[in-house]
Amino acid sequence: MGKIVLAAKITHVPTIWLSEHVEKHKGIRQSAIDGLRELGRRAAARGVDTFVVFDSHWIVNQGFHLNASARLKGRFTSHELPHFLFDMDYDYRGDADLARLIEKYGNEAGLKTLAHDVPGLGFEYGTLIPMHHMNRDARARVLSVACDQFADVDENRRFGAAVAEAVRASDRKVALLASGSLSHQFWPNALSAKGLNTVNGEFNRQVDLRVLELWESGRIREFLDMLPDYAERCHGEVRMADTAMLFGALGWDSYNGKGEILTPYFGSSGTGQCNVEFPVT
Ligand SMILES: [Fe+2]
Repeated sequence: MGKIVLAAKITHVPTIWLSEHVEKHKGIRQSAIDGLRELGRRAAARGVDTFVVFDSHWIVNQGFHLNASARLKGRFTSHELPHFLFDMDYDYRGDADLARLIEKYGNEAGLKTLAHDVPGLGFEYGTLIPMHHMNRDARARVLSVACDQFADVDENRRFGAAVAEAVRASDRKVALLASGSLSHQFWPNALSAKGLNTVNGEFNRQVDLRVLELWESGRIREFLDMLPDYAERCHGEVRMADTAMLFGALGWDSYNGKGEILTPYFGSSGTGQCNVEFPVT
């Protein structure tokens, strides 16, 4: 019987790549990198077979989609921020079997779910940046899951629950990652350079900090009650579909774990970021 061995809300900001590869910005995201590496170390210590990544940069317009390719290899440059993230080589084994199982459970739950084994359907950076640090030896398989920008919170909750059911029905040890921002309001062009390491707006910053307090103290039900408003008012990345899926997989409002912050809250290009592990209870 399979199980979820690690669950986390994680950052994937391209400034992580900048921090490693551009002299002027060396080290600016070291804390984010350290958090991702620690999560990767924990996943490996628990025998992870597959990282399942709810990727808020694989944005789809309808349905729930999984990348079921057996192997994903390529060189990635972000079309959104090519000056931040470029020439990233990657080579991972996918997890077609688990993708097909999630497809089955998703469809049984009444959600239009499709697993694709299509040449040319590569990974996006919501998967690639975390894997670069969490799965450094590429030992574990990687299964990327899209976020539907028009799905509502309840659909995402149900999809997360279907993922958890599929994992239990598999023979896999899975690390489940919600790869996405807290607040997500980029700075306008005139302020983008100056705002590289800050959050756009005190309102967004304060709400993000409150969310982290709720997570740390295990007040998940309260967080879930505010999630639709939070995603709307703080410009949630893909309406925080990744986060709704993660808590759906963890049991939604019956989840009674407390988040552990591995990377303290930080701003990146206006957005609010963190790495937080949620123990699987
Ligand atoms: Fe993002």
